[in-house]
Amino acid sequence: MIQTPYYLIDKLKLKRNMEIVQYVREQSGAKALLALKCFATWSVFDLMSQYMDGTTSSSLNEVKLGRLKFGGETHAYSVAWADHEIDEVLANSDKIIFNSIGQLERFEQDSVGHTRGLRLNPGVSSSEFIIADPSRPFSRLGEWDAEKVMKVIDKISGFMIHNNCENGSFELFDRMLSQIEERFGALLEQVEWVSLGGGIHFTGDGYPLDAFCARLRAFSQRYGVQVYLEPGEASITLSTSLEVTVLDTLYNGKQLAIVDSSIEAHMLDLLIYRQPAKMAACDGPHQYMVCGKSCLAGDIFGEFNFDHELKVGDRLSFIDAAGYTMVKKNWFNGVQMPSIAVRQLDGSIELVREFGFEDFVSSLS
Ligand SMILES: Cc1ncc(COP(=O)(O)O)c(C=O)c1O
Repeated sequence: MIQTPYYLIDKLKLKRNMEIVQYVREQSGAKALLALKCFATWSVFDLMSQYMDGTTSSSLNEVKLGRLKFGGETHAYSVAWADHEIDEVLANSDKIIFNSIGQLERFEQDSVGHTRGLRLNPGVSSSEFIIADPSRPFSRLGEWDAEKVMKVIDKISGFMIHNNCENGSFELFDRMLSQIEERFGALLEQVEWVSLGGGIHFTGDGYPLDAFCARLRAFSQRYGVQVYLEPGEASITLSTSLEVTVLDTLYNGKQLAIVDSSIEAHMLDLLIYRQPAKMAACDGPHQYMVCGKSCLAGDIFGEFNFDHELKVGDRLSFIDAAGYTMVKKNWFNGVQMPSIAVRQLDGSIELVREFGFEDFVSSLS
């Protein structure tokens, strides 16, 4: 028995997503890069790299991780590169994508001979959350003005546009891509490759994959570009759980259960977006508010129904715990950091990483 808390990555579930990614690559001609900002647990890259073309990044560290652990094509993007990073970024990447014309011009000499791109901001997004909306007012994420971009077009060979966000609607994707074509069509005609970013939930149940692939292919043919996708969440969705144990139960007007984990430390993204965690299938007359063990008063995973009264020692499993979760885990309160386990394709479970006091100590000085 593996000591809780631990994240459990199920390779069979991951493979289901990967097979869809593969299908989209084959049918649309698009290349697929894993967005490491969403998921960077490299012990399962052996499987993922068989189905994807490489990685994309948001920092020098992610660029190096992608090159070292995933291989394939390595796209280097960051909101802003620092002078002292640029040589290593170039040495470890196949393409560098600048967020602004200012950055492109700043590093123009350093990056001569490297494949260069620029991020465009189309001013439309599918995000329901202002914090995650790349097209929010005054957004710093990419260039908006086609005229200004046209003046530097000879310095680049491609664009990156990331404006989808948890978008499960093909109609909305299609409509926004048409808006992009209207706004930036003249620019798209001038380049060789276009990355459409992440945020497209094409691995979700019922997504119209063939219409999606046809739309991508038509876009690629219209502008004569190699299309890239940067799926983060879509690559790993529903592949991973966070396994925890009940440490205490109490009644304070509601039944409460405290577990050996913390939403703030181990599923921080949910706290930021004020969304409850998802519990593995459970139902019944016993409702509990499941809480974390950190000191944060609002360290609450959510309220769930069970078919039995919870007691100390019971095991609970939060599903969909891979995206923006493991990459954001932290040592708040010194709460034991979850181990990482992998369910291999043959069903065996392998513990691939444990964290201890030394890791806690070495995370600060
Ligand atoms: C530039 C870029 N590419 C890809 C992604 C991955 O998005 P998702 O995990 O929603 O697919 C993001 C997410 O913020 C992003 O900013």
